[in-house]
Amino acid sequence: MSAYDVAALCRTGRARRFARGLRLPINSRLARLAENPFARLGALLAEIQPRANTPPVMMSVGEPQHETPALVARLLAESGHLWNRYPPMQGTPEYRAACAAWLQRRYRLPPGMILAERHVLALSGTKEGLFQAGLLTVPEAKAGKPPVVLLPNPHYLVYAGAPVVAGAEVVTLDATAESGFLPDLDAIRPDHLERCALFYLCTPANPQGAIASRAYLEKAIKLARDWDFVLAVDECYCEIYDGTPPPGALEACFALGGDLRNVLVFHSLSKRSNAAGMRCGFVAGDPDLIARFQHLRSYGGAQVPLPLQLAATALWQDEAHVDSNRALYRRKFDVAETRLAGRFGFYRPPGGFFLWLDVGDGEQAAKRLWRDAAVRVLPGAYIAESRESDNPGRRYIRLALVHDDMTVAAGLDRLRQVL
Ligand SMILES: Cc1ncc(COP(=O)(O)O)c(C=O)c1O
Repeated sequence: MSAYDVAALCRTGRARRFARGLRLPINSRLARLAENPFARLGALLAEIQPRANTPPVMMSVGEPQHETPALVARLLAESGHLWNRYPPMQGTPEYRAACAAWLQRRYRLPPGMILAERHVLALSGTKEGLFQAGLLTVPEAKAGKPPVVLLPNPHYLVYAGAPVVAGAEVVTLDATAESGFLPDLDAIRPDHLERCALFYLCTPANPQGAIASRAYLEKAIKLARDWDFVLAVDECYCEIYDGTPPPGALEACFALGGDLRNVLVFHSLSKRSNAAGMRCGFVAGDPDLIARFQHLRSYGGAQVPLPLQLAATALWQDEAHVDSNRALYRRKFDVAETRLAGRFGFYRPPGGFFLWLDVGDGEQAAKRLWRDAAVRVLPGAYIAESRESDNPGRRYIRLALVHDDMTVAAGLDRLRQVL
């Protein structure tokens, strides 16, 4: 049993009770999945009444509250005649072409490097695609030994899901201040690389906002090719950045000669276009993997409805709304900087929309903030693996700057008063 599984079992007494209490035979590995961080937060704060007459500020969930571009409502209203049709699982030719063209523009790739029909597959949001990447890649054994899946620690909860269900050993790689909030690629043990089937990376990283340089991505790709594993790079925050646009893994593939072997990238409209409810994204990369991904999804994937693909196509073709969205986030980081600079280890994250604040004890801080200030934040430990010695998220809280700047300012002012 991996460190991840042991930690999850210890942490989630509820999961054990859940598994023990079942009368029916189900996949017992489910009990090894860590409890959902928001369910844990709900339980932590359930008994706490926030101070009366204080409107709550919800900064725990990364759900963008900026407006969805108006073209979505218009195109949906115009495409009512399409709801009766089954959409193609792989995406319409127009949708895939828009995704391929966006990748080419965004990462300055040469024409022809990304072909819509060979390298791109529509996803009903990246969440399901990231989960399925685990089902796609985890073999029975690698090099005659139990397979390993590598994840950053802390990480987006979903990365651990399919590997645990598929029976892989999940090995987490600390992404702390000391390692620039990304996993230290030089510190991965050779026996883990040898058994590795899949390595999830996130850039810009949730929660820390760190951006992997092109050199870092090239190194990760070379590792994947040298040790025969799949590198899944979650780039869903790539359009929310402070300075220069974050490089992407396909750009690194181009720099390495243009081959897409071993690499998959995941993109989404949820953050880029404030369209989390549309459930639209895509996966792109290695054509052999994409073909097998399509095969897997023909069994268990959710197609994106045609009206949504139509609207999503228009969103991938438009940059104006993305520019103004980015400007809104920059303003909120200005708001945060004026209030928090010099406190709680504040740094201005180069990407994404989270603050990752060192408050000493994230769980205690979350309780105090809810009780005394009606500000809801996520304890960092809830999105990181616990080890016997410690949890790299324990000292932190994560705040999502997804509301308007007035609300963000109010939340941060209260945080400063209370902590
Ligand atoms: C790091 C990361 N990846 C993927 C997702 C999933 O995004 P979606 O399924 O909306 O595309 C999220 C959502 O919060 C996320 O934080």
